[in-house]
Amino acid sequence: MTTPFEYALENQDKFLRELTEFLRIPSISAQPHHKEDVRKAAEWAAAHCLSLGMTRAEVMDTDGHPVVYAEWLGAPGKPTVIFYGHYDVQPAELKDGWHTEPFHPVIMDDKIFGRGTADDKGQVFIHLKAFESVMKTTGTFPVNIKILLEGEEEVGSIHLRPFIKSHSELLKGDVGLVSDSGMLAPGLPTIVYGLRGLVELEIYVTGPHHDLHSGAYGGTVDNPNHALSRIVASLHDAQGRIAVSGFADDVRVLSADEHASISHVPFTEEMWYVETGAPAIWGDPDFTLKERTGARPTIEVNGLFGGYTGDGSKTIIPAKATAKITCRLVPNQNPQKVFEAIQRHVAAHTPPTVHSEVSFKRGEPGLVVDPNDPAMQVAVEAYQHSFGKAPIFTLEGGSIPAVMMMRESLGIPVILMGFGLPDDNLHAPNEKFSLEQFRLGIQTAIEFYRLLPEHQK
Ligand code: BES
Ligand code: MN
Ligand code: MN
Repeated sequence: MTTPFEYALENQDKFLRELTEFLRIPSISAQPHHKEDVRKAAEWAAAHCLSLGMTRAEVMDTDGHPVVYAEWLGAPGKPTVIFYGHYDVQPAELKDGWHTEPFHPVIMDDKIFGRGTADDKGQVFIHLKAFESVMKTTGTFPVNIKILLEGEEEVGSIHLRPFIKSHSELLKGDVGLVSDSGMLAPGLPTIVYGLRGLVELEIYVTGPHHDLHSGAYGGTVDNPNHALSRIVASLHDAQGRIAVSGFADDVRVLSADEHASISHVPFTEEMWYVETGAPAIWGDPDFTLKERTGARPTIEVNGLFGGYTGDGSKTIIPAKATAKITCRLVPNQNPQKVFEAIQRHVAAHTPPTVHSEVSFKRGEPGLVVDPNDPAMQVAVEAYQHSFGKAPIFTLEGGSIPAVMMMRESLGIPVILMGFGLPDDNLHAPNEKFSLEQFRLGIQTAIEFYRLLPEHQK
């Protein structure tokens, strides 16, 4: 008799052909001209779920991109898993530095290259293929499963909160499961037990009522680009510590245990240099690299623009300058309070020669998952089975707004079982997903679903 995992190995080529079809749909949620592609990807995913034997699969409308909901509820009395993933992807164009077409996936060296391979279509596929492998070999599945696939994760999950709230009965379950994060290194299975939250804001600085000739007025008008640069520069001190008073007041203090376990996370300066290519390390000297990316909040200017940025030159003093900023929050920080701290800081650092305004876009708090939740122990055993060693627990710097929403609105623990690797190039050119991780991911998922009923009665 074929075991589910043997089935997965025997069918790997078929799985990859199917995944390739999914990856070829450029479901870029940020770009309005890809709106139809986003829907196409949703329809593809729903149809695929049905083809695997799920008993229901629908593309459900929201005020933004649609949500895919699918289910198989043939295990009465057994726990129900809510699996969340996202089928939207980040923008990608060949000219950004891709070696292959981002939406024509290529398999090389046991890796699949293309936009969405690791973030997150490839990881969603792990669970669909685990389901298929178990169904095809045993005719049934050990738990009830509800699949929730979002099409707006990469643009901040704006419409997911109302969707989850208004479908709380449909989405009722016992455990949330997400594969949209990564491991520290190959062979080092990792469970993320904390994600950072996010506050998005914009600072506008205005001066003259329209652009001015820089020859006629230069030297007498405070240039909004200069003033905004000074404001932005004041957000950190010379050592890289955040200089906004009140910003970090509520930051959750790490327990002695967490300090110790973070210090054992194998993330070295050398790895940092290889991954980033930046010439030197920067940032708050009071914390280690790993603490800075998981356990500390940040303020990052994602975009800075004002005046003329086209070809050649245009000699003006611009009327307006803009900074697009996101802050990563750690647990206990309140997005609104953080925003107000920045608002006060900007007001205090705005000279009388210009006006400034800070606008709140959205906010999501950070979260920690209780490592002692029984479902966590199931995940630990599942990794132990597939990787031959227990996973490391780590705090992750990225954000997945849905995780917080699932916990708040559905009241369930959410397990972050991610299989990405540090060199997967998420959001960057040449995104890839290791096929070894794909196979191990399927094996881990099969084991997780198999073990869950024993732990959750
Ligand atoms: N999968 C990532 C988040 C992530 C990355 C978690 C690496 C763990 C490790 C997700 O798709 C993402 O990019 N999230 C955005 C959310 C934002 C747009 C609200 C992020 O973190 O910037
Ligand atoms: Mn993702
Ligand atoms: Mn992403």
